[in-house]
Amino acid sequence: MKQLKCAVIGLGMGHNHLLSYQNNSRAELVGAADLDEKKLDRAEVAAPGIRTFTDYAEMLRETQPDVVSIALPNSLHLPVAVACMEAGADVLCEKPMSTDLAGALEMQSEAERLGRTIYMNLSQRFNPFHRAARKLVGSGVLGEVYHGYTSWTRRDGMPGFGGWFGQKALSGGGPLIDLGVHRIDIALWLMGNPKPVTVSGVTHHHRGIPLARKQGKVFDVEDFASGLVRFENGASLLFEISWAGFQEAHERQALRLVGTEGGLEAEPGANGWELVLSHDVGNVPMASRMSAPKGNAPYSCEELVDSILDGTDFPATARDGIRMQIILDALYTSAESGHEIDVKSFAPAAFALL
Ligand SMILES: NC(=O)c1ccc[n+]([C@@H]2O[C@H](COP(=O)([O-])OP(=O)(O)OC[C@H]3O[C@@H](n4cnc5c(N)ncnc54)[C@H](O)[C@@H]3O)[C@@H](O)[C@H]2O)c1
Repeated sequence: MKQLKCAVIGLGMGHNHLLSYQNNSRAELVGAADLDEKKLDRAEVAAPGIRTFTDYAEMLRETQPDVVSIALPNSLHLPVAVACMEAGADVLCEKPMSTDLAGALEMQSEAERLGRTIYMNLSQRFNPFHRAARKLVGSGVLGEVYHGYTSWTRRDGMPGFGGWFGQKALSGGGPLIDLGVHRIDIALWLMGNPKPVTVSGVTHHHRGIPLARKQGKVFDVEDFASGLVRFENGASLLFEISWAGFQEAHERQALRLVGTEGGLEAEPGANGWELVLSHDVGNVPMASRMSAPKGNAPYSCEELVDSILDGTDFPATARDGIRMQIILDALYTSAESGHEIDVKSFAPAAFALL
C-alpha cells in the first residue's frame, strides 16, 4: 500500500497532527521538529522510532516528506511553508494562514511558483457536527440564509502573558485571529462562502494590556472584538469574540443562521453540541432539537492523507485561508480607523481571487 510521507513542525497543537499521522496506516510519519526538546521527547514516546529535530530545515533535508503540518506561531507560517515547499513538500497550515493578508497572498503565490499545494487546518470544518449542520443547510430547509451571528466569548481566558499569542508581531492579533477565525469560518462555510463586500470591526483593550503591564509582560493585542460583515448576496454576519469580557459563563460559543424558510442555532449543550431547527409547518411554529454525542472527531490530517493519495478535494484550501485573512485585515483596519472598509478597494487583488 502506498503511504504518504508526513512530518510535523511545531509540537503544541502539532502533537495532535503527529498522533493522527502515527495512527494512520496510509501515512508514514517520517519526522517532527520543535525547538523544545521536551516536546520532542513526548513525540518520541508517542511515536517510537520517529526522527526528531530541533532544526526544521535539517528535518526537511533528512526526511524528504511529501506533506508537512505546520503548527507554529502565526508569524512563522509563511517562511516555514516556503521552506517546506522549496523542499518539495505540500503543506497543511494551521489557521490562520498568516499574520496578515500580504503573508497569505505571498504563501499562495510561492505555492504556485513551486507547483505545490497549501491545505488549511480550518479544523472546525472537519467536526462531524458541523458537517451535519452543513448538510441540513444544504438541504434548503432554511431557504435563503440572509443573516448569521456567531460568538466565542471567554470571561477570563487570556493566554499566558509573555508568549507569542499576545504579541501582534508574532500572532497578528488577539482573540479575533485566534478564536474568531474558527467561528467566522464556520459561519461563512455554512452560509455558502458569500463574497464579503464591506467590513466593520471594533476591538477593545480594557483587560489584557493593563493586567500584562502589572506583570511587566509584553501584550499588545485586543482582548475583545466585535464586527459586522456584509456580503455580495445581501447577507450579513455579526460576531463577538473575546479572551476576556464579563459574563456568567467561563466560556460560551454560539451560532445562529436566519433564512427565509427557517433558522438554525448551534451551541454546546450538556451532552455535546446541539442544533435547533426552527421553521413553520403550515401555520404552526416548530422547533426540533438534535444533539451530537460528545467524543473525538476524526482529525483533519486523516482526511488530508486520503485526499492526497486518492486525488479527492480537501475541504479547506488556500483560497479559504485568504478569504479569512481579507476579512481579518479589513476588521483590524476598520477598528483602527473607526470606519467601515470597502473590501474591493481595500484588497482588489485578493478580492478578485474569491
Ligand atoms: N486548529 C486548531 O484548533 C488550533 C488549536 C490551537 C492552535 N492552533 C494553531 O496552531 C499554531 C500553533 O499554536 P499552538 O497553540 O500549538 O502554539 P504553541 O506555542 O503551544 O506551540 C508552538 C510550538 O512551535 C515551536 N516552535 C516555535 N518556533 C519554532 C521553530 N523556529 N522551529 C521549530 N519549532 C518552533 C514551539 O517550541 C512550540 O512547541 C497556531 O497557528 C495556532 O493558531 C490551531
